[in-house]
Amino acid sequence: MNAEQGSIRAGGEPILEVRDLVKHYPLTQGILFKKQVGAVKAVDGVSFRLAAGETLGIVGESGCGKSTVARMLVHLEQPTAGSIEYKGEDITKLSGRALKAVRRNIQMVFQDPYTSLNPRMTVGDIIGEPYEIHPEVAPKGERRRKVQDLLDVVGLNPEYINRYPHQFSGGQRQRIGIARGLALNPEIIVADEPVSALDVSVQAQVINLLDRLQAEFKLSYVFIAHDLSIVRHISDRVGVMYLGRFAEIGTDEQIYDHPTHPYTQALLSAVPVPDPMAREHRERIILHGDVPSPANPPSGCRFRTRCWKAQERCELEVPLLAVPAVFRLTDTPAHHDSACHFAEEKQVVPPGEEPAEEPEGPGEGPEEPGEPGTGPRIR
Ligand SMILES: Nc1ncnc2c1ncn2[C@@H]1O[C@H](COP(=O)(O)OP(=O)(O)OP(=O)(O)O)[C@@H](O)[C@H]1O
Ligand code: SF4
Ligand SMILES: [Mg+2]
Repeated sequence: MNAEQGSIRAGGEPILEVRDLVKHYPLTQGILFKKQVGAVKAVDGVSFRLAAGETLGIVGESGCGKSTVARMLVHLEQPTAGSIEYKGEDITKLSGRALKAVRRNIQMVFQDPYTSLNPRMTVGDIIGEPYEIHPEVAPKGERRRKVQDLLDVVGLNPEYINRYPHQFSGGQRQRIGIARGLALNPEIIVADEPVSALDVSVQAQVINLLDRLQAEFKLSYVFIAHDLSIVRHISDRVGVMYLGRFAEIGTDEQIYDHPTHPYTQALLSAVPVPDPMAREHRERIILHGDVPSPANPPSGCRFRTRCWKAQERCELEVPLLAVPAVFRLTDTPAHHDSACHFAEEKQVVPPGEEPAEEPEGPGEGPEEPGEPGTGPRIR
C-alpha cells in the first residue's frame, strides 16, 4: 500500500485485499499510426480490504470508476497496476487453470437485468451456463435439478425453468441474474448497481434477498451504487469514491453519522430523510461545477475544484487516505480514513434521523411471473 492510500481497516481476516489498483485507458490520436496522447485515469490508486462475510458498499457519482473497479475484481479487465489478493494470492498474476479456479469464487451481478440476460436463452440455460465452463460443480445429469434449486433459493418458481427472460418482471430478472451469480457456489459477489434499474418498490425486495443469501451462503459482497441511501441498509463499511479514488472509507455509522470529508458531507446532504421537520432544518450542500475529466484530473486534491473549503495546500499536496491528524488520538467515530487536509466532522443527517434507506414496498417474497409486457418497468 502506498502512503497516499494510508491505512484501511476491516474487521476479521481479509478474503480480498486490493492494493493501489489502477486502470488507465489510453487516449490515442491518428488513424493509421495510432499515437497515445494521454489516458483516462478511470481508477487511480484504490486500496481496500474485504473481510469474510462482510459487505463493502462503494458509492460515488457517475464516472468515478466504480464499475471499472468491479470489472477488475472479477477479471473482466486487467489492471494497469496494483494487486488484487484473494486469500493472500495476487489474482492479477494468475492465468490458465489457477485463474479459472479463482474466478469461480468471485462472481458478478450486473446492473441491468434487461440487457445482461440473453433473450434467446431459457432461464434454465442462462443460470446453468456457468456449468459449461465448470462441469465439476454440476455434472450434466444434475444440472436441471441444480438450476431448479437455485430458482427456489432466489424466490422464483422452479417450474419456470423453460421460460424466457421477457416473460419475467424486472425484479424477477434480477433474481435470475443473482441465481446465475450463485451457480458456482462463489464466496464473493461483486454487485454493480444491482437495484438501480428497478422500481423503488422492488429494490427493497432484491436487497432483502441479497441480505438473506449472504447469511445462508456466508457470502462476502462488494455492493456498488451511486446512492448512499441504498448502500446503508446492506453495508458493514462504505467507501466513497471521487474521480478514481476513495475520498473516505469507514463503517456505516462513521460515514453516515460522522462524515469528515466534504464530498461525503455534500452527498449525504442530498439524501432524502423521512421526517419533514428534520428535512426543513438540515443544511443542504450544493456542489458547484461538474466532475473534472478523469483524463485531466486536478492536481493535489481531486475534489478541490468543487470544494468550498479548498485552500492553497489542496492544490499542491495530495491528501492521504488515512485517519486525519486531528482525530488520530481520539476514540470517536470520526477516527476513520478520510483523504482531506482539513477534515472536520459534520453531522449532515440530523441526529436520530435515518436516511430513507429502504424504499417502501412489500417485503421479500416470491413474485409471480409477469405476462410478457406486464410487471414492474424500468423508470
Ligand atoms: N473502455 C473504456 N475506455 C475508455 N474509457 C473508459 C472505458 N471504460 C470506462 N471508461 C471511463 O472511465 C471512467 C470510469 O467509468 P466507470 O464506468 O467505471 O464509472 P462508474 O462510476 O461505474 O459510472 P456509472 O455510475 O455511470 O456506472 C469514465 O470516465 C468512463 O468514461
Ligand atoms: S483536501 Fe482541501 S479541497 Fe480536498 S476535500 Fe479537503 S478541504 Fe476540500
Ligand atoms: Mg458503473
